[in-house]
Amino acid sequence: MSSTGIPPIGIVKGKKPHIQEMFDSIAPRYDLLNRVLSGGIDQKWRRKVIKEILLDQPRRILDIATGTADLALLAAAKGDAQIVGVDISEEMLEVGRQKIKQRKLDEQIVLQSGDAEKLPFSDRQFDAAMVSFGVRNFEDLDAGLFQIHRVLKPGGKLVVLEFSRPSAFPIKQFYAFYNRFILPFIGRMVSGDSGAYTYLPESISVFPEGADFLAYMKRAGFSETNSTRLTFGIASMYVGRRAR
Ligand SMILES: C[S@@+](CC[C@H](N)C(=O)[O-])C[C@H]1O[C@@H](n2cnc3c(N)ncnc32)[C@H](O)[C@@H]1O
Repeated sequence: MSSTGIPPIGIVKGKKPHIQEMFDSIAPRYDLLNRVLSGGIDQKWRRKVIKEILLDQPRRILDIATGTADLALLAAAKGDAQIVGVDISEEMLEVGRQKIKQRKLDEQIVLQSGDAEKLPFSDRQFDAAMVSFGVRNFEDLDAGLFQIHRVLKPGGKLVVLEFSRPSAFPIKQFYAFYNRFILPFIGRMVSGDSGAYTYLPESISVFPEGADFLAYMKRAGFSETNSTRLTFGIASMYVGRRAR
């Protein structure tokens, strides 16, 4: 258990309502915090995900744990695929809907309430699926990945973006200091939520990365898997496919 009371890794019963409540409460300031805390690198990473997703020219994309729809908006800016975003936090979705409306993209992007572990879609619906900074929050990671695999068409691609842990000196040491002291401090000041930005580094510190995360993807049925470390390994991108 973490100091915030939220178990930092999935497969722990009872985590979901806490996660939902936490994102509902930070939703109005989530985008601002992302940009401040990452210095804008988060958008650079999301653009890499979109580049990988669009290689296959998908017509229908599912954005799981879409939050305020940043990833969906980037995908819409680069092509004309139809995008469906799902999330368990209504407040995050509401911020996302405002952004979509402002950019007049409501015909291309639709956001709906939905749980990754019980996706409200029938089998083989989507050409591609993507999740940025979402899988770490699932209550049951295996169930979430299995569901994503289920709704993908044969040959469909999944791209996951998630935090990982840099291993090289001195980035590793600086990152540990940043996560322990700076991130919770700024997070608390801006969001007013003392728990959310303590949960963030705690969940990153125990979440599977690299080959360990790919093992989860393979167990859910994905093949042709690979991972790429981004910005010294602060984040990683994982790719896999539903067999053709
Ligand atoms: C850190 S935010 C990421 C949002 C967005 N993808 C981005 O890149 O900014 C994590 C999101 O995952 C959502 N989430 C957590 N567990 C979920 C689940 N089981 N199903 C759907 N969404 C979930 C949260 O509500 C939150 O909006």
